[in-house]
Amino acid sequence: MSGKIVLLASATSLLALAAPAFAQAPTAADVAKAQARAAATVKAMKPEEKTILTKGIMPLPLFPNAPKPPADAVAGAGYIPGIARLGVPALKESDASLGVAYVMGLRKDGSTAMPSGVAQAATWNPEILYKGGATIGAEARAKGFNVLLAGGVNLTRDPRNGRTFEYLSEDPLLSGTLVGEAIRGIQSNGIISTIKHWALNGQETGRKFVDIRIAEPAARESDILAFQLGIERGQPLSVMCAYNKVNGDQACASDWLLNKVLKKDLGWKGFVMSDWGAVPGVEAAINGLDQQSGAELDKGVFFTDVLAAKAKADPKWAARVDDMNQRILTAIYAAGLDKNDAKPGGAIDYDAHAKVAEEAAKQAIVLLKNSGNVLPLAKNAKRIAVIGGYANSGVLSGGGSSQTNPVGGPKAAIPLGGDGPWAAFSAQHYHGTAPLTAIQAQAKNAEVTYRDGSIIADAVDQAKKSDVAIVFATKWSTEGQDHADFSLPNGQDALIAAVTAANPRTIVVLETGNPVAMPWLGSAAAVLEAWFGGMRGGDAIASVLFGETNPSGHLPITFPASADQLPRQKVDGYWDFEPNFMGDPPTPDTKVTADYNIEGSDVGYRWFARKGQKALFPFGYGLSYTSFEQGGLNVKGLTASFTVKNTGQKAGATVAQLYLTKRGGEAKQRLVGFARVELAAGEAKPVSVTIDPRLLADWTPKGWVVKAGDYSFALGEDAERLGQSVTVKMPAKLVKD
Ligand code: BGC
Repeated sequence: MSGKIVLLASATSLLALAAPAFAQAPTAADVAKAQARAAATVKAMKPEEKTILTKGIMPLPLFPNAPKPPADAVAGAGYIPGIARLGVPALKESDASLGVAYVMGLRKDGSTAMPSGVAQAATWNPEILYKGGATIGAEARAKGFNVLLAGGVNLTRDPRNGRTFEYLSEDPLLSGTLVGEAIRGIQSNGIISTIKHWALNGQETGRKFVDIRIAEPAARESDILAFQLGIERGQPLSVMCAYNKVNGDQACASDWLLNKVLKKDLGWKGFVMSDWGAVPGVEAAINGLDQQSGAELDKGVFFTDVLAAKAKADPKWAARVDDMNQRILTAIYAAGLDKNDAKPGGAIDYDAHAKVAEEAAKQAIVLLKNSGNVLPLAKNAKRIAVIGGYANSGVLSGGGSSQTNPVGGPKAAIPLGGDGPWAAFSAQHYHGTAPLTAIQAQAKNAEVTYRDGSIIADAVDQAKKSDVAIVFATKWSTEGQDHADFSLPNGQDALIAAVTAANPRTIVVLETGNPVAMPWLGSAAAVLEAWFGGMRGGDAIASVLFGETNPSGHLPITFPASADQLPRQKVDGYWDFEPNFMGDPPTPDTKVTADYNIEGSDVGYRWFARKGQKALFPFGYGLSYTSFEQGGLNVKGLTASFTVKNTGQKAGATVAQLYLTKRGGEAKQRLVGFARVELAAGEAKPVSVTIDPRLLADWTPKGWVVKAGDYSFALGEDAERLGQSVTVKMPAKLVKD
């Protein structure tokens, strides 16, 4: 029995991370010091310098009349000039959710492509997120970027959201913890990271005008809590506000979201940048927006002359402009950009970085089904039929601004139409090692055949002749577009049904960014959810198939049995107008409202628990090639302890989950702690959790109210399979934000 595992329930508890090979990320104390320096610089600024840092451009040749980017700009999402007289460096921004983004190949380089966000979250491993962030940050620095548009933490309120792949999970504790670590990792490179998109950006359909209706307590206990935990843990120096409206106001011009919640209540000191094309007008500044990003995408450039004129005429605006500069400079100084700026041309150890991507991909794969222990496969299998999913090329990746491709670009790009750079934006990219190659490398002497699956009879014939058939099924997801339903596209369900009927030893490998329906589930011997696995996704899949890696991923989102189980049967606005990436309303009076008060703060599994519904696969679910037992639960104050044991024959890892199940005798389910625990065969480890009291509380305008009374907690293998439970009395408690 080895050392005790400390669970990650509190924003202050730290995992015993393997020592990072990077500097320390800025702390709250560093931010406080930077604030004082920023104040001095603001004092020294001339009036005409005060709108330099408040407006950004896209340094990309995307528009016919786009001016030539400044000489020191790096092709990426954004550029804000510096102020040389005051030693303030330019801000060079790249998207970086899953790697330094590809920007449609315009930068002519590649970068390490990590598994998608939801895949990384399936590891439930903060260390993986930290290392991923640290790796992406190092690469960004070497490419000359100093601001990363990363930290996507919008909760999966709708599992059809096109950006589910880019975000993390449906739970505030899991998402907040993981995003905080990713941000710490990025910022350990002396660069700024965002957390985004603040807030309630839960769908892509009509994203620039959908109005999210939600009561404050529900918002505070769900989406805002995820941000809050992420901000506390990661100290992001920037927040990117969202496209959508919240309770009638554009998120990037919402006094409530920006001034009241973020800056006043959470006491956050960094700067708010807008999303690209999300600024309705100059008033956004008074409502708390500090920087207009990619201003050419807005209806006007508001944060230069228009803002300066306001500041000249009105002391209230002048003070606001000073505060905008103060906040941007605080971030610059806290990250140390002026002392040690990023420069293009730095050395990048792509092999070492690929190993980080591979480790993440291995830990992310979720084993959903394994009948009769068909997996792991024997390496001496004679004949293996690999079918479909471009498995001879690479693994699928998600589309939109986060699109990342390794050096050399995608292995296959399936065009979906469009013109110029936008065509590159709407192509499905397969990249990294081909699963077919990785499978052949595992089973060196096997005859491995490949069929693309377009002719079902031929695929069936191959499956019949083989010891085992492995069908790869893909469903592309992209920013700007939600899914209509949970079906696999292009007849893949029919292909899988035919192959599973032909060979009972058929394994289905899913490469998806969202949950999918599995009408063939009963006849598939095994199913793996491999997500969008990044540049080493193919190797990771083969490693799990042949048992070199014991699967340990657990679902960070619920896979519903049908859309009828969701709070909304369709994504609001879906079918009502044609989706387009720019997201502008087809006519100015087009309105879409999404009522999040239906589920309130009961997002995902909490909604399923409230309704007593059984998911296809619940939140937290994941099988292994070994077996585990959890027990000995004891809760004292806000500390829970228990033991996890590997009861099988193989070393493996599981994710211990602790749920609140009842409050004051009433059913209420919330994840309050978790830990990924690695165990040798037969090994047991004690685990302890510090429960963040906010997870037990109701948010009220006075603070987080924990009522005195009985609280029941249960250990869970997932959100539905709950084991030992205990009930304890908690005293009343009021926690301020
Ligand atoms: C996305 C952001 C991204 C920005 C810059 C927007 O369309 O919503 O997440 O950072 O573009 O590329």
